[in-house]
Amino acid sequence: MKIYLAKHSGFCFGVKRAIKLAEETAKEYGKAITIGPIIHNPQMVERLQNDGVSAVEDINLIESGPVIIRSHGIPNKSLDVLQSKELVIIDATCPYVNKAHEFAKIADKQGYEIVILGDKTHPEIIALQSYIKSKVYFWEKSDVLPKSKYTKVAIICQTTQNVDNLNILANMLTPISNELRIFNTICNATNVRQQASLELAKICDLMIVIGGKNSSNTKMLAKLCSEYAETKHIEIADEIELSWLEKYNNQGINIGMTAGASTPDWIIIEIYSKLCKIAGIEIPSMHSIDEIPSY
Ligand code: F3S
Repeated sequence: MKIYLAKHSGFCFGVKRAIKLAEETAKEYGKAITIGPIIHNPQMVERLQNDGVSAVEDINLIESGPVIIRSHGIPNKSLDVLQSKELVIIDATCPYVNKAHEFAKIADKQGYEIVILGDKTHPEIIALQSYIKSKVYFWEKSDVLPKSKYTKVAIICQTTQNVDNLNILANMLTPISNELRIFNTICNATNVRQQASLELAKICDLMIVIGGKNSSNTKMLAKLCSEYAETKHIEIADEIELSWLEKYNNQGINIGMTAGASTPDWIIIEIYSKLCKIAGIEIPSMHSIDEIPSY
């Protein structure tokens, strides 16, 4: 049995930055409050809780700071409420998410109707929508868009979306639009993770996709990998079932691992170690995911 980790697995730049800011803030002030969990990974959120970082869903319940805006950003009205409370605000919105907000404002100002490629219930998209005053439609693969002719329409993407979905949407809108503008706001960290995971899935029998069950980018990785290999999406090592490997008789199979942009390294190492134990592969204790064979 061979076990590989897809290149570019785990924390992206924006998540690393948000966690660093949360840790530093909690250290300086003795506590920090995030609006919603700082990242979509329950294990990391629990670990941060022990350092004094707690999550609140309703901003009206926040009486004192410091408050951290997570990498997804927040709606402009929520930011106004926080500012009116004169709290210490640490903005950990990912710069690439901010870029999408800037494009939304430009398209809005220039009179485009806007189609957002993404999940309208996701906090990133709820925040993005708040910067748009003109008509907004949402589209993910199975949604239906009005078929009437669009005079001026712009596409803006959730940063964790997939280029194939963007192509489908652009092809749908092209024949029914007088003017179509595409803001490709899919983050490069998302792109490289998806491409590396797909390449690995193509040579594997089984793919283990690691990350929060509530993480959009991890769910997208699992969906893509499942097109090429049997795929299991797990959060922690305890979820691994022996039967997944037994059915291959533990012989000559390739197992691939990949992890979403909000998955901490220590969870990836735990899962790799457990897979090696099951496979009878001896490994030294690890300190970095760079020590795992990559593909
Ligand atoms: Fe930012 Fe891209 Fe990560 S948008 S939070 S660097 S996936």
